[in-house]
Amino acid sequence: MKNIAVFTSGGDSPGMNPCIRAVVRTALQHNVNIFGITGGYDGMIKGQITQLSHKDVAHIIHRGGTILKTSRSDAFRTKQGRAKAYAQLSKHNIKALIAIGGDGTFKGADLFSEEYDLSCIGLPGTIDNDLFGTDYTIGYDTALNTVIQAVDKIRDTAESHKRLFVVEVMGKDAGFIALRSAIASGAERVFVPEKKTDVDQLIDYYKHQRRADKTSGIIIVAEGDDSGGGKQIKQVLQEHLTSYDIKLTVLGHIQRGGSPSAFDRVHSSELGIGAVQRLLNAKQKITGMMGIVNRSLTITPFKQAIKHHKKINTKLVKTVELLAG
Ligand code: F6P
Repeated sequence: MKNIAVFTSGGDSPGMNPCIRAVVRTALQHNVNIFGITGGYDGMIKGQITQLSHKDVAHIIHRGGTILKTSRSDAFRTKQGRAKAYAQLSKHNIKALIAIGGDGTFKGADLFSEEYDLSCIGLPGTIDNDLFGTDYTIGYDTALNTVIQAVDKIRDTAESHKRLFVVEVMGKDAGFIALRSAIASGAERVFVPEKKTDVDQLIDYYKHQRRADKTSGIIIVAEGDDSGGGKQIKQVLQEHLTSYDIKLTVLGHIQRGGSPSAFDRVHSSELGIGAVQRLLNAKQKITGMMGIVNRSLTITPFKQAIKHHKKINTKLVKTVELLAG
């Protein structure tokens, strides 16, 4: 295998750059030509493919985002789009891909590698941590730290004004960010898409059960919660809890940026190195998502890795309530 291409696709996440850096430097170490595809699958279709050198990945380990840019490509969902992409790869005799992205990326990679004689290793690049086959996804730890730093700031003003804050975090249909950040930030309640929201119980808690000496509080809601997200929860609470001063903060895309944490830099580097080495050692076409499970590099078929296969520990929802006191 002499030519490998790497690209980033779907929502960006902190840690993608350290991962790209590890892929490039490992490939060059093994005298393999490494190509970067700029702009995800759209960029592949357009032929935005350039050979990379050591210096192309210098001074990026600390940078959020992705130097290879990204996209959510409708064109690649079509056979014609994938045919154009393959033709572009063939111009550079590229037979192996490293796709850093989330479930949408892996759906495309699965189809592509079934239709063409291509090896493709996916690396779990999404802050959602919702992919089966890896304990952590690239960017999840940094996103968690971004959320708790924001919530710690909100806690200051909540305490000063004796307010209740509803904080909405990312996670279209996965509550991993909400759940862990709720525990880490000392939230009173957390709402995740995986567990039906019991609004009556929430109202009852604030009306009758909450400790009298509590003067402020934080409720964390995943944007994909079945109640409709932070805005809806805040509205319902305001209607029923007239004595409370309730505010809403939607954290939004700040959770996607920022300098990668130490964990994300090391974790994504391990994955980048592992992906190149697995491709070089493969005796035949290899496809699937590479993750780290219990500290070991593993390959999971794309179809299994894609969303809705990773279970959340809903018992941790109770932990939030227990620790809130
Ligand atoms: O999948 C990662 C993610 O950040 C989700 O948590 C979020 O709902 C979505 O991407 C936002 O997508 P976009 O950046 O296209 O608005």
